Amino acid sequence: MITRVGILGCGAIGMEMAMVISRGDIDGATLVSLYDQDAKKATHIQEKTSDTVWYYSNFQEFLSTEGMDLVIECASPQAVRLFAPEILQARLNLLMLSSGSLADAEFFRKISKIAEENGSQLIVPSGALGGVDAIRAVRHLLKEVVLTTTKPPKGLMGAPGFKEWESVEFTGPQVIFEGNALQAIQEFPANVNVGVTLSLAGIGPERTKVKVVADPKAPGNVHEIFARGDFGSFRFRLENKPHITNPRTSYLAILSAIETLRSICGTGPRIGT
Ligand SMILES: NC(=O)c1ccc[n+]([C@@H]2O[C@H](COP(=O)([O-])OP(=O)(O)OC[C@H]3O[C@@H](n4cnc5c(N)ncnc54)[C@H](O)[C@@H]3O)[C@@H](O)[C@H]2O)c1
Repeated sequence: MITRVGILGCGAIGMEMAMVISRGDIDGATLVSLYDQDAKKATHIQEKTSDTVWYYSNFQEFLSTEGMDLVIECASPQAVRLFAPEILQARLNLLMLSSGSLADAEFFRKISKIAEENGSQLIVPSGALGGVDAIRAVRHLLKEVVLTTTKPPKGLMGAPGFKEWESVEFTGPQVIFEGNALQAIQEFPANVNVGVTLSLAGIGPERTKVKVVADPKAPGNVHEIFARGDFGSFRFRLENKPHITNPRTSYLAILSAIETLRSICGTGPRIGT
């Protein structure tokens, strides 16, 4: 069976997803529709893909794309707030990259209920993080989960939590934020989606600790997870290359979304979760 995919948000992730699908690299997936508030971004993808992919400048028209089964959201937390309820209500599955928006427990409950009532599914990939499957497996035994995210200062530019640091000349690693995942996503909305994904798989945004470090010598976007509990403990460290057009986004986030789409479309054996 073919999954007919629409892409909401045609930036760094949207472009890569569109190219992979339209090249035929994901068996069973076909790209049918694009939507972005910035028409130039969407038409740029449209030009690079086939002429059967429609671009809509109006969200309602995008939502009505004939035969669309799945929307990949790679836009922003605001786009999730605005559009996720309607997407799920329209019985479309939603693969969501801006997982930070789910730190709002009431909103998460609301869209989960809409999905359940309409037989649609909300899918959040591991994104720029590994180890989410392990966290999920031990979630009832967890006592502590800490995420330390280290980025080069340019990868933090524009975040409210980085405003007072923007003119600082960093010479080494500097902790710029410590708090929980809920506070972290408010201060760094485009940087710590991973903290929210991790917390939803584990002990929730209020109990998941997040530390953000700016380091001019960071070998990329580095995420370290430490978890302990009645199962023992583990640590993961990921040194992710930033995406070439958006240094806030790790290349792994895109690869993870591609792999998630492959498992949605695939019929073969599934290795890992
Ligand atoms: N879960 C993860 O691990 C992870 C990792 C990286 C990025 N992300 C998130 O994925 C999203 C996309 O990342 P990106 O690097 O492609 O960003 P990007 O800035 O390169 O592209 C985002 C695109 O979405 C469009 N957009 C934003 N808000 C919109 C709205 N309300 N309506 C229509 N279009 C809208 C923008 O015009 C832009 O073209 C971001 O929210 C980012 O924080 C998640």
